[in-house]
Amino acid sequence: TPDVEPLLDGGQLIVVSNRQPYSHGYDEDGEVTVSRPAGGLTAGLDPVMQRVEGTWIAWGDGDADREVTPEDDTVEMPPEDPAYHLRRVWLTDEEVDQYYYGYSNRVLWPLCHGGIWKTDFADEHREAYEAVNEKFARAVREEADDDAVVWFQDYHFTRAPRMVREAMPDAFLMHFWHITWPGWDTFRSLPHGQETLEGLLGNDLVGFHTGQYVENFLDCIERGLDGATVDRGNNRVEYDGRTTEIESFPLSVDFEGIAASAERFDAEDWDAFREEYGITGERVAVGVDRLDYTKGVPERLNALEQLWEDHPEWRGELTYVQKASESRSIIPDYRDLQDRVTTGVDRINERFGTDDWTPVVYLDEHLDGDTLNGLYRHSDVMLVSALRDGMNLVAKEFVAAQVDETGVLVLSNQTGAFEELGKHSVGINPHDTDEFAAAIGEALRMPEDERRERMHTMREWVETHDLSRWMKDVFEGAADVRMKRRMGMD
Ligand code: G6P
Repeated sequence: TPDVEPLLDGGQLIVVSNRQPYSHGYDEDGEVTVSRPAGGLTAGLDPVMQRVEGTWIAWGDGDADREVTPEDDTVEMPPEDPAYHLRRVWLTDEEVDQYYYGYSNRVLWPLCHGGIWKTDFADEHREAYEAVNEKFARAVREEADDDAVVWFQDYHFTRAPRMVREAMPDAFLMHFWHITWPGWDTFRSLPHGQETLEGLLGNDLVGFHTGQYVENFLDCIERGLDGATVDRGNNRVEYDGRTTEIESFPLSVDFEGIAASAERFDAEDWDAFREEYGITGERVAVGVDRLDYTKGVPERLNALEQLWEDHPEWRGELTYVQKASESRSIIPDYRDLQDRVTTGVDRINERFGTDDWTPVVYLDEHLDGDTLNGLYRHSDVMLVSALRDGMNLVAKEFVAAQVDETGVLVLSNQTGAFEELGKHSVGINPHDTDEFAAAIGEALRMPEDERRERMHTMREWVETHDLSRWMKDVFEGAADVRMKRRMGMD
């Protein structure tokens, strides 16, 4: 696991995220039940936290129906072999409604993805978001020593860094922004937008996935925050007597872990899987998405429908498997999206389906890791059609799982991942149904040597730019900034 010690320099590591590293529940006797870490960043950070005995601060989700005692505030992780602390921040139902569903997911999420029409700028959302950020900031102040390193995750915490900074001038504060940062034209629609910028500039270092988001952020500072000075050459901002560095760190996946898992799901497992879910097409295309309106699932279904319409030879031959997980369903735009997806699936299946072929196989149940990676491994084509996406780790997971190197990635030009993988994928504009349908056909007909060459190149990239490399880059980048700060070099 990557070396975080030079950055910490003997101090503590505190991670702040909305979601807990392990998902929690309670059984009938009130005992804590914990499942494995959710994938992605958590899976990578967990061993680091264990080694340095850090503290993770997160929303104590899942306890709403239960009386919480002070002993529940801090629990030890991982449960079977305690090595670090998990401090839970409790939120009232109203706070969940207004901070999580309201400001985080009906203001910042749509706005950052360019969906200004899906925002709800109600004042009470912003006020609750500030109050919850204050709760998290208080938890940080309680847990952290003066020289701690505090690492905030994502758009749920734009205010907390400044709140913490005011009380802890010597702490090293850093942030990773996991979603898109929009251009100034979009960002300027946010009422009180300067508070978002000021809040983030409480950090010493702010990281984004791509150089474009760094540029967008600097544009927003330059045009939207009076009193800030932007140093473009060094990607630095001076504000309120402090300096913040802005850098790009494209997040990645656990290449080796995914490849080994996919390897375990062999041809026999795949046959059984196909049998179980009625996947009868000779060729298989796959899509794996959290059901979010940014993911372009209806657009993808339209493209598939067009392909089957224009090219009847693919009827009966190609099955599309859509793995979907429900998300944020309290928000009407998410329910609308779910309806559009299920209606689209039904329409296509009614239109083209036969007794022995279901064109779209829709899976909304949980699949264990090996099965999911096996699905990636044995599919011929992966369809990623996000309308806008900060990175899209699914694309990288597919590449890592393609141990036989024969699959093709069809990838939206609106994803962060396109900057890294665009040249070797089949690129699409997800709104251009004709082009998208043609791209799926092209991917299915691509000669094997070309498929292998492209996939091999992408796999080399993801293997050398995996999750541990990302953490190493982040920790080393942060250590540099911290050292310069300490030596008074800026
Ligand atoms: C995106 C965000 C994450 C978030 C995840 C799942 O990837 O960047 O911060 O955790 O979606 O969404 P949820 O609202 O369920 O946490």
